[in-house]
Amino acid sequence: MQDISTKCTQQYKYFCFILSKQKTYYKNINLNFTRMDSFSLEMDFEPSPMTPRSLAAMTPRSLARRRLFPNVDNKKQKVEQSGAGPRKNLQLEVMEPALNNDGPSLDTILVNYLDTLTQRVNYHLGYPVNIYYDHYASLAPLLQFHLNNCGDPFLQNTVDFHSKDFEVAVLDWFAKLWEIEKDQYWGYVTNGGTEGNLHGILLGRELLPDGILYASKDSHYSVFKAARMYRMDSETINTSVNGEMDYSDLRAKLIQNKDKPAIINVTIGTTFKGAIDDVDTILEILKECGYSQDRFYIHCDAALCGLMTPFINNMISFKKPIGSVTISGHKFLGCPMPCGVQITRKSYINNLSTNVEYIASVDATISGSRNGLTPIFLWYSLSAKGQIGLQKDVKRCLDNAKYLKDRLQKAGISVMLNELSIIVVLERPRDHEFVRRWQLSCVKDMAHVIVMPGITREMLDNFMSELVQQRKVWYQNGKTYPPCVGEDIGAQNCACSYHKIDYITP
Ligand SMILES: Cc1ncc(COP(=O)(O)O)c(C=O)c1O
Repeated sequence: MQDISTKCTQQYKYFCFILSKQKTYYKNINLNFTRMDSFSLEMDFEPSPMTPRSLAAMTPRSLARRRLFPNVDNKKQKVEQSGAGPRKNLQLEVMEPALNNDGPSLDTILVNYLDTLTQRVNYHLGYPVNIYYDHYASLAPLLQFHLNNCGDPFLQNTVDFHSKDFEVAVLDWFAKLWEIEKDQYWGYVTNGGTEGNLHGILLGRELLPDGILYASKDSHYSVFKAARMYRMDSETINTSVNGEMDYSDLRAKLIQNKDKPAIINVTIGTTFKGAIDDVDTILEILKECGYSQDRFYIHCDAALCGLMTPFINNMISFKKPIGSVTISGHKFLGCPMPCGVQITRKSYINNLSTNVEYIASVDATISGSRNGLTPIFLWYSLSAKGQIGLQKDVKRCLDNAKYLKDRLQKAGISVMLNELSIIVVLERPRDHEFVRRWQLSCVKDMAHVIVMPGITREMLDNFMSELVQQRKVWYQNGKTYPPCVGEDIGAQNCACSYHKIDYITP
């Protein structure tokens, strides 16, 4: 073992520091430096159980403080930001190195920024991002390289700086999960769920050029964006109070437009209420309305739940006549960069593929350059967690969501939780500051908490006690009342003064 502090570049010092931090988490790490710029690494890949708390101990903040930005003078230049409050706009401008800047140094700005992010993580309840992962530490050295997977993942590049081998491994894993044979599917790692939807709906339109797009009004906005981009005729389908597609409305609209093929967006976990459209019921309705398999295309938008439902029941399966499935990789699994996975049938893809001489490849993707890092992050997470790890995450999230729902109910607060969902919909907190502090998403008089893998009971307890306390202040004068959300989440779930149900257990 050589003295890394004197012989390595800053970059390697950083890497080594991260690895040394990991000694707490991995049984054994041996770093051997042979030359100044090369090393070998032995690591017993057996992570000790991770908890959000232990992960927090190796956050960028601690790295930043100690090594990453050694020149920073924290005491002098630190701008106070409280973790409990929304982060302030840093009002930045690009600095000119030749000029003497009076303000804080680059390092100081970054350290403060990392510091704020690290604190705000504990108040990240409203959006579906899994921010607890440990792969950034092991994978940080990859940031030295520009990895670009442009073109078809299954064709080799003329440049070596890609990660298509990792990409195909990830795609194979998802193909197996969603029950389609290796030689029957095509797919790629996208930039996120939106790109997957744009791709899936485009495939539908290319296969059925005069098809009408059917999507429920609770579908993600990217679905309607696709309809506008592709200038497709579309029908918005009503939803039930729980956010699920209203099948009688779908049936009526399919019958009305029987002369045109149907391209249906099925949402497996709606954005706001976490409702699951029932693929089997939709297939049944198509059949009853006289749509043969060559006259419909089904795209499944499973952005959040595509990695959850297979561990509960396999509703997503290419054994059914569906055309494509997409997920967001940064949601349930977690990844520092937005990403996603799109899988479709190989037989469909020729409709989109074009030969591109410049990249010596065939392209059927939406983007040009594609992030080569994200497939490695996905591959690493899937390999480290495995099916059993994911299954545990799903169970913990479902249990915690139920825990929060019960606590809200007992406190007499309007709340709804769909079956198989981790999205707890509640009355909109009255105070905007509260909404911002907890980074909640609100629609009408509703807000939601998404109980993602890193959300602990402690965080939920903190949220609850603050909410209960604040409500006493908001509604103390007897003139202002909690909103009525009976229409949006169902009268039985609404605890407003009109619908009041005695939730308090005896
Ligand atoms: C159901 C659904 N589809 C698509 C998306 C878009 O995913 P992304 O943000 O990865 O583009 C979301 C995002 O929340 C979503 O909830």
